[in-house]
Amino acid sequence: MKPPPLLLPFLFIFLFIFPNITTSQILPPTHSPITSPPSSSSTTTLDPKQIRALQSLNIPTSKDPCSQPSYQNATICDNTTPFRHVTSLTLSNCPSYVALSFTALKSLSTLHTLHLLNCHVPPIRFPPELISSLRSFTAVNSLRRVTGAWLSQLQNLTDLTVTNVQVKASGPYVILAHMTKLQSLTISHANLTGYLPGHIHSKLIHIDFSENQLKGNIPISITILDTLQSLNLSSNSLSGEIPVSIGDLVSLNFLSLASNSFSGSIPDSISAVSGLVHMDLSSNQLNGTIPKFISQMKNLKHLNLANNNFHGVLPFNQSFIQRLEVFNVNGNSNLCYNHSILSSKLKLGVSPCDKYGMPVSQPSKDSSADDNSDDDYSDGDEDASKNNKEHHHGPNKFVLGVAITLSSLVFLIVLMVLCAKCCR
Ligand SMILES: *[C@@H]1O[C@H](CO)[C@@H](O)[C@H](O)[C@H]1NC(C)=O
Ligand SMILES: *[C@@H]1O[C@H](CO)[C@@H](O)[C@H](O)[C@H]1NC(C)=O
Ligand SMILES: *[C@@H]1O[C@H](CO)[C@@H](O)[C@H](O)[C@H]1NC(C)=O
Ligand SMILES: *[C@@H]1O[C@H](CO)[C@@H](O)[C@H](O)[C@H]1NC(C)=O
Ligand SMILES: *[C@@H]1O[C@H](CO)[C@@H](O)[C@H](O)[C@H]1NC(C)=O
Ligand SMILES: *[C@@H]1O[C@H](CO)[C@@H](O)[C@H](O)[C@H]1NC(C)=O
Ligand SMILES: *[C@@H]1O[C@H](CO)[C@@H](O)[C@H](O)[C@H]1NC(C)=O
Repeated sequence: MKPPPLLLPFLFIFLFIFPNITTSQILPPTHSPITSPPSSSSTTTLDPKQIRALQSLNIPTSKDPCSQPSYQNATICDNTTPFRHVTSLTLSNCPSYVALSFTALKSLSTLHTLHLLNCHVPPIRFPPELISSLRSFTAVNSLRRVTGAWLSQLQNLTDLTVTNVQVKASGPYVILAHMTKLQSLTISHANLTGYLPGHIHSKLIHIDFSENQLKGNIPISITILDTLQSLNLSSNSLSGEIPVSIGDLVSLNFLSLASNSFSGSIPDSISAVSGLVHMDLSSNQLNGTIPKFISQMKNLKHLNLANNNFHGVLPFNQSFIQRLEVFNVNGNSNLCYNHSILSSKLKLGVSPCDKYGMPVSQPSKDSSADDNSDDDYSDGDEDASKNNKEHHHGPNKFVLGVAITLSSLVFLIVLMVLCAKCCR
């Protein structure tokens, strides 16, 4: 009766491995038939005007640029007749002699998507036909330098991404004023100055203004965006209190206000943002106590409150802290933890509290050895010590193994010597 249950796992393993092997063997042959039939592109080819435009932009055209996958995915075409048209174009790592020309862009006015990656072409005025058609524009480490006025011409965009490009504008409003269809907005690492716009008329889902020089506070125009899922304002010079209206961002799951000059306390209204997964408020001048409602935020995975001026007793238990992927409260010198609730082994970077809820001593940040001052309380915290010592388990076992082997050897030698003496 025993063999069948033992055989069963093997059967499963075979069943799992076999389809994998067969599909991976079958796939390559089926792949080439799929990619080669674009010989049907003999009936429909790319518009000759667009072929010339692509050539002027250094996109190879000896092979049909519409064939899938095209050269480095640089082009995606539609299926119109008699000629196909490019709808998506990516220019990456452009050689220095490549330049955008008005004529080429006019020929490419069927583009919905234009990506520039490491492509330092000079920005030129786009033809109205292209502006009308363009939905997604990306410039990453490209274009050298653009003005807000230049970006503001792209009025039909739903997606705008400008990263690691110097953007010269008196503020984001200049760029965004007429982009009424925008859904995803990233202008980051761009040295953008000015204030967050007092008015944004759109259905924004994603805002990333990180790593700029924006100042002032968070205006109501941002917190009324009830479709907003992601707000990244990190690494600017923003200040003032986090507005109570932040609780109106009911769709938000990512929030980073890190590395600004926000002050005041965490508003209770944030408890209404129940879908929050990522909350980074680190490196500001926030004060007050850390609200307990944070531990009731069921979706939270990343909580960073480091380097602020929070005080009082940390309102979290061990199961909450261990559920998170990132938890950081370092660098809040008046914050402490209740050592009858949390173990020192969690190494939270804050001091334990005295009975008045004040830190008993400065946190021992550098001492890698355990702070033994509260050993009486940490005895029962086996789970915590397990969790933190995980990395030491391997080496410990190894040392133990070596020790056992060595002592066995010594024992054997002694035994042999004794035996030799006895048997003589
Ligand atoms: C091209 O696109 C495919 C599918 O999206 C992707 O797997 C592949 O990595 C891309 N190739 C390049 C060179 O970007
Ligand atoms: C945006 O696209 C619509 C058609 O979808 C067009 O009527 C309009 O003129 C375009 N706007 C601009 C500024 O090109
Ligand atoms: C932003 O300005 C600094 C100093 O003015 C400069 O070093 C840096 O390259 C600029 N960043 C970009 C993306 O141009
Ligand atoms: C937020 O901005 C920081 C800094 O630019 C970046 O590292 C991070 O990936 C951004 N996160 C999101 C979700 O946009
Ligand atoms: C927090 O800081 C603000 C100024 O930034 C101050 O008015 C307030 O009294 C501080 N609150 C506490 C509890 O320290
Ligand atoms: C830890 O705190 C959470 C939220 O406050 C609570 O739901 C949970 O029951 C607590 N767990 C323990 C073991 O006390
Ligand atoms: C620490 O927790 C214990 C048990 O919940 C409680 O009796 C005590 O008052 C707390 N101490 C502080 C300083 O909050």
